[in-house]
Amino acid sequence: MNRENVFVTPEEMAQQRSFTQRLLRRNSARTAENGYVPKALVDCYGCQQNEADAEAIRGILAASGYAVAADEHEADVIIINTCAIREHAEARVLGNIGALSHEKRRRPELIIGVCGCMPQQPQMARKLKMSFPYVDIVFGTHALWKLPQLLWEAVSEHKRVFDVEDSAGRIAEGLPVQRKEKDKAWVSIMYGCNNFCTYCIVPYVRGRERSRRPEDILNEIRGLVAEGYRDFTLLGQNVNSYDGGDCDFPTLLERICAIEGDFTVRFMTSHPKDATKRLFDVIAANPKCARGLHLPVQCGSDRILKAMNRRYTVEQYLELIDYARAHIPGLCITSDIIVGFPGETEEDFQGTLDLVERVRFDSLFTFIYSPRTGTPAATMEDPATHEEKQNRFDRLLAAQNRISQEIHASYIGKVVEVFIDGGGRAAGYTLSGRTDGGRLVHTVGDESLRGTKVRVRVEKGSTYALFGSIVNE
Ligand code: SAH
Ligand code: SF4
Ligand code: F3S
Repeated sequence: MNRENVFVTPEEMAQQRSFTQRLLRRNSARTAENGYVPKALVDCYGCQQNEADAEAIRGILAASGYAVAADEHEADVIIINTCAIREHAEARVLGNIGALSHEKRRRPELIIGVCGCMPQQPQMARKLKMSFPYVDIVFGTHALWKLPQLLWEAVSEHKRVFDVEDSAGRIAEGLPVQRKEKDKAWVSIMYGCNNFCTYCIVPYVRGRERSRRPEDILNEIRGLVAEGYRDFTLLGQNVNSYDGGDCDFPTLLERICAIEGDFTVRFMTSHPKDATKRLFDVIAANPKCARGLHLPVQCGSDRILKAMNRRYTVEQYLELIDYARAHIPGLCITSDIIVGFPGETEEDFQGTLDLVERVRFDSLFTFIYSPRTGTPAATMEDPATHEEKQNRFDRLLAAQNRISQEIHASYIGKVVEVFIDGGGRAAGYTLSGRTDGGRLVHTVGDESLRGTKVRVRVEKGSTYALFGSIVNE
């Protein structure tokens, strides 16, 4: 793709800002007239990339004069940012949109918008248009930056607006962002995906791969460090294919680590076909890089990996893991696995179990294959029954739970460094946080420790977390 054509132009961005101003004037006039402050709610499903988009949507709404609504009953605008990765995700979203019909009947002036990956599929855009007549705005991932205009049209002209572009997608720099957290931030470094794994809808709903300019990313992170952010997650469907001109992903990581300040940088997701030894060398050499790696393998059978179009073998994957572990002591490795891909046999599945036993992942995200309309796998022969797939899924989960428990038990008595970012998620423990590698730790301490690093002596381990007391030596 020609890099010049990838960016939304400054003129187009300025035009959107003028719509933001119009909305702001309209909302402020309402407040001046009778003290009423319009409010908006953004509901988000799906991956971190979608969460990052939701923060931009919240930023646009805040700049347009909307305060944050506590729930749907007090919202004047509700935007639902959707996910299409599996049928279950879509069903949940449709159910929740359906539930809003009562609210709309009660308050016809309520504006409901549905955006993100779901409407970017033509059959879903049609469904939203026909079967959900009370949804006012429908826009796809490519039209996010046009939200001010779409919202203005819906609010001022009382009409339904649709903007689902069938395009490769562009990059919109300079959108306002309202971040959820005070110390952790998502930073998108690229958008879209060109890999077309045969089961996956993402390349169809997120468009072609396009990378932000390295200087835009570095400036954003510098600004966030100055604001006090201490933990950055670089986002992309395959960060290893980041292409910033003369700056590839390992170089970008090096440049980020060279920014002055005390912070940690992580990234997701990394595709094994493009993960290089140089990437692991850069992580090893830079203490600011988290000792955590999410490297989705998807399955442990070469035959199925080929049918998935993953473009690596089990052997190549294991080689990467061995290299990473040998060069980055204490590295936590997590992965994604799909069970029940069309044509998966018991033997193929055994390959997955063997791989899991061999790698001993720190944790796993496991999914039962879900056919997605328009993807090649959706038309492949799939003789296994749902019961067989569920049985394999349960066996995989049991194996991983045992491994996670064993790994966690081996921590008992050891001291780990934890970045405290939350609390009250486990009974009897007031604080929680993550180790550098991303392991969840519960402990007890004062609220004021949030946003700081503490040392915790591990006393107990479960399948999902470690538990212990803060030590002050
Ligand atoms: N870009 C990332 C993953 C994005 S989707 C990568 O390549 O690793 C997150 C995970 O959802 C995938 O890793 C895969 O395990 C799972 N997934 C994607 N499509 C799926 C489908 N059709 N059915 C079940 N799981 C799926
Ligand atoms: Fe989907 Fe594959 Fe792209 Fe990941 S790399 S988003 S699994 S197509
Ligand atoms: Fe879902 Fe879209 Fe992410 S389909 S997983 S929200 S890229």
